Amino acid sequence: MESSDYSPFAALSEIALTINSLQDPGEVLERVLRVAVETLDAERGFVLLHRPEDDELFEVRAQFNIAADHLGEIMRISTSVVREVLDSGEPILVFETENDGRYGSSESIVIEKIQSIACVPLKRKEKQIGAIYLDSVTRRGRFTPVHLPFLSAVANQAAVALENAELYQSLRDENRRLRSEVQRMHGFEGIIGQSAAMREVFETMTQVLDTSATVMLTGESGTGKELVARALHYNGERRDKPFIAVFCGSIPESLLESELFGHKKGSFTGATADKRGLFEAANGGTIFLDEVSELSARMQTSLLRVLQEGEIKRVGEETIRKIDVRVLSATNRPLKELIAEGDFREDLYYRLNTIEITLPPLRQRRSDVVLLADHFLERFATGSRDYVKRFTIDAQTALKSYPWPGNVRELENTIERAVVLAKGETIDAADLRLPKDIDALPYAPGLPLKEMERRFVLQTMEANDGNVTATAEALGVSRRWLHYRLKEWESPDE
Ligand SMILES: Nc1ncnc2c1ncn2[C@@H]1O[C@H](COP(=O)(O)OP(=O)(O)O)[C@@H](O)[C@H]1O
Ligand SMILES: [Mg+2]
Repeated sequence: MESSDYSPFAALSEIALTINSLQDPGEVLERVLRVAVETLDAERGFVLLHRPEDDELFEVRAQFNIAADHLGEIMRISTSVVREVLDSGEPILVFETENDGRYGSSESIVIEKIQSIACVPLKRKEKQIGAIYLDSVTRRGRFTPVHLPFLSAVANQAAVALENAELYQSLRDENRRLRSEVQRMHGFEGIIGQSAAMREVFETMTQVLDTSATVMLTGESGTGKELVARALHYNGERRDKPFIAVFCGSIPESLLESELFGHKKGSFTGATADKRGLFEAANGGTIFLDEVSELSARMQTSLLRVLQEGEIKRVGEETIRKIDVRVLSATNRPLKELIAEGDFREDLYYRLNTIEITLPPLRQRRSDVVLLADHFLERFATGSRDYVKRFTIDAQTALKSYPWPGNVRELENTIERAVVLAKGETIDAADLRLPKDIDALPYAPGLPLKEMERRFVLQTMEANDGNVTATAEALGVSRRWLHYRLKEWESPDE
């Protein structure tokens, strides 16, 4: 009596895959239903679920092979069967509707010529949440007790898949809501973050927005220093005046002075005309000195004079020009250390650093990672790739546990690539192409010393089963030192 290609194992494994890959409850139900229909060679089917607002009401959440205008009819027909399943919590098989005393008399079953029915309850933690209904109009005895274990397994799997998908959806909605709320709160468009560390950044930004105080942005490469500099300008009172970014490390020293301050015609070979410098061009606005640690001693002295006097002199000219420019700067090298080594002027440092804003590395604000990833997904999944919609749960886990040595920039590139590699609606962990086991290595090229220290200590800790005394001994440090470090590494939002 079984259909020839009845293969419950293949079907169940397909449903299990569904659990891991689909994050839309509607899709989960459609897929589960289709697999059940196909496996049992049924012709039609639907899934009923409780309405969230009312435990007594059910609604069709997925259907197979039932025309919309027909659905009401079939629902009415099957009501008695479905009701019974929901009341008893037990599956029902109707082999031959006509001869089944329970339903055979039902006028509509006769009219519709339904030959056999299978209906199983969907339960979540012993609670009825709905039912899966299948029927056949072509064959009696389509469904037999042999199929019952399969149907119950399908129902169980479907309930789990559904719960996962709903959980995922509510997390994602919550994520979106949080993100827009945070944006509204801090008002800096395009800067994402709701970790404690980032909130502190936003707060300081708000405080310095409408002042002309110099601001120094510190933090590892790719943490958003330039983004913050731009936001300070475009949200502040100078927004209608120019914002000019200067990459101090990339302009040859010999050119930098004339680049910044301008020159008089004939003041050096190649100075074929009078030229205005960037400070003059930025007048009334903001100049952003990126990689400020790269300035030579000579340039440091010139810059200090500009900051002290609020005036510049073009190269080869004696005329003094007043300027009104707000100076923002950024560095990813620790200036304090450069000062100690005599490579950076301390007085200039204090001039540039009226306010310091430190952008935290991504690994210290892991709760921002998924928010950022979602943000970049929305940005890159456009045009021909706008069918890419979300991350699988595995992918989210991978994103959260990766240490992001390249910070937001690395995350941004990762998502851009993943959108290209994604084969369907979802981005899976493999599409992220994250380097494997990076956290397992105590060192990796480009890793800050501090991070190497952290990994080394944590690995020693692990090797000593978390015993602080043993770890301190192994490392040759005091327990106090170790406690202090461990506390420091406890990220504020985990
Ligand atoms: N908080 C953030 N929200 C959104 N995008 C960010 C954030 N921080 C950094 N980015 C993005 O990451 C990339 C690197 O940021 P950038 O400001 O150039 O870093 P840095 O100047 O510190 O090296 C840029 O594309 C930037 O837009
Ligand atoms: Mg930068």
